[in-house]
Amino acid sequence: MDLGLTGRTAIVCASSHGLGRACAAALAQAGSRVVLNGRDAAALGATASELRDAGANVLTVVGDVGEECVQQALIDAADGRVDILVNNNGGPPLRDFRALDGAAIHAGVDANMVTPIRLVQKVIDGMIERRFGRVVCITSGSVKAPVPGLDLSSGARVGLTGFLAGVARQVAHANVTINFLLPGLFETRRLAGVHAFNAQTNGVSVEEAAASARARIPAKRFGDPQEFGDACAFLCAASSGFITGQSLLIDGGAYPGVL
Ligand SMILES: NC(=O)c1ccc[n+]([C@@H]2O[C@H](COP(=O)([O-])OP(=O)(O)OC[C@H]3O[C@@H](n4cnc5c(N)ncnc54)[C@H](OP(=O)(O)O)[C@@H]3O)[C@@H](O)[C@H]2O)c1
Repeated sequence: MDLGLTGRTAIVCASSHGLGRACAAALAQAGSRVVLNGRDAAALGATASELRDAGANVLTVVGDVGEECVQQALIDAADGRVDILVNNNGGPPLRDFRALDGAAIHAGVDANMVTPIRLVQKVIDGMIERRFGRVVCITSGSVKAPVPGLDLSSGARVGLTGFLAGVARQVAHANVTINFLLPGLFETRRLAGVHAFNAQTNGVSVEEAAASARARIPAKRFGDPQEFGDACAFLCAASSGFITGQSLLIDGGAYPGVL
């Protein structure tokens, strides 16, 4: 399927590993030039090399996406012409809500709410002028169903979703869309941390915690990041301009609600 993304430029934040990397790979495969980002220069370089070997046109910006100078460097790498923005960042560590002090709460809100909003502010007017823009925010299934230990993550991401829900309606007239991808449990580094937290909390081994999590998913497996990346590319497609303000949960059926 031709997604109509040839020649587009995408910034994919936090994309040296995991879900961000998968989104970058799918967008590159669809013909977009992709700006990758991560704090570890070696890991970012290795990912860039692998994507280039597969034929991708990629640039890299090393640094913490929460820093204004890194955000500007991402936009500069795209020559100021950002057609697609995939907002992603590390999630807060799993922690009992009682253990969060004020600084930790502010850091979580900054990473998972303020940073993506700041990036949208910086790229949205160019998208409106050019009459094309796709913003995809990677949030979490915890937006729909809270997860013990991820209260800060849920709170910040629900805040982001609410903030951008209004923005989405203000920019839709210009073929600029803003949508949210909500991962359930996907096979990434992050998931290993979730298993470790659950093992400690429940007094079981990491393997038992992983097996129990897998068994609770109707699909009886964890998600493959490539499936996630493909969904991201679909939301960015030229033909997806009538889909906006939506939260797409990708969780193998784990969320039990009808809607
Ligand atoms: N995997 C899941 O099952 C799952 C489920 C629900 C929600 N999520 C959420 O989805 C997002 C991605 O998770 P993932 O599973 O893909 O994690 P991951 O495999 O650990 O990858 C995280 C990526 O983000 C980069 N990163 C982290 N902090 C950064 C920062 N401040 N600035 C720039 N880059 C940064 C990391 O590179 P560096 O460390 O080198 O910077 C890495 O490339 C997270 O917010 C996570 O909470 C994941």
